[in-house]
Amino acid sequence: MDDSTYARLQDQLQRLLGLDLTAYKQQQMRRRITTFVQREAGGDTSAFLMQLQKDAALLAATRDMLTINVTDFFRDESQWDLLARDILPALTVGRRGLRVWSAGCSRGQEPLSLAIALDRAGVLASSRILATDFDREVLAKAKLGGPYSREEMRGVPPADLATYFHETPAGMTATRRLLGPIRFAEVNLLRDQFERSFDLIVCRNVMIYFENHVKSDLVRRFREALAPEGLLFIGATEALLGSDLAGFQRVGGNFYRRVSEHRQNVA
Ligand SMILES: C[S@@+](CC[C@H](N)C(=O)[O-])C[C@H]1O[C@@H](n2cnc3c(N)ncnc32)[C@H](O)[C@@H]1O
Repeated sequence: MDDSTYARLQDQLQRLLGLDLTAYKQQQMRRRITTFVQREAGGDTSAFLMQLQKDAALLAATRDMLTINVTDFFRDESQWDLLARDILPALTVGRRGLRVWSAGCSRGQEPLSLAIALDRAGVLASSRILATDFDREVLAKAKLGGPYSREEMRGVPPADLATYFHETPAGMTATRRLLGPIRFAEVNLLRDQFERSFDLIVCRNVMIYFENHVKSDLVRRFREALAPEGLLFIGATEALLGSDLAGFQRVGGNFYRRVSEHRQNVA
């Protein structure tokens, strides 16, 4: 696909879907779109765009392809072990509950994993979890707490299934106890204002798709949204390096603590 065809396609997709595609890594995005147009319309961009105007299912599939909603319960298990073993015990000293944000929560597995982790730490009932995504469809499933297929449930330890989920004909659905402390909302991380004073912000496997300057800006805004000493939990391939580390201190694994910039310099 030549540059001008791609620019036209990007423009139209942006208009139809309300997505700012320029924020996402150009090469990756271009590869995905090219493969998709090849599969859906034999590589004919004009035919694809025409079809997109009148075919709601194709529009939804295109949105899905662009937003990449892949997720899992307790994704990257070692990081959740670290959360349970070191991070939560330190964070909850003298506290009855935490304020947590799952940013880019997809179909809900991440905020539900957080709810289970907080329950095991004995602070779920007094905690509040904000779970956000900009994709309305995934958010609708997340709000309902499922249903999740057997395949989707594979990250949940068998011993926890009966404690935290109901079996329904369509799959497993989260219990009220798990869903109660979670508030779901539509938030576009590139555009919308953030709430503040979070003890823990979890944003994993989202920034990896953004251009570097977009990631840097987002990290700076996450820092502002954290309470002093609050923690940012990111994806395995999203390490904070160079100037992105300003005002943070890595505490282990994929966890970074907000510190005053002065303190970081002294350390
Ligand atoms: C690969 S999933 C990651 C889900 C979960 N955090 C995890 O690690 O399993 C990326 C999610 O980020 C969301 N996303 C992408 N761009 C976004 C944006 N600008 N604002 C809010 N959510 C976004 C997508 O809709 C998708 O649900």
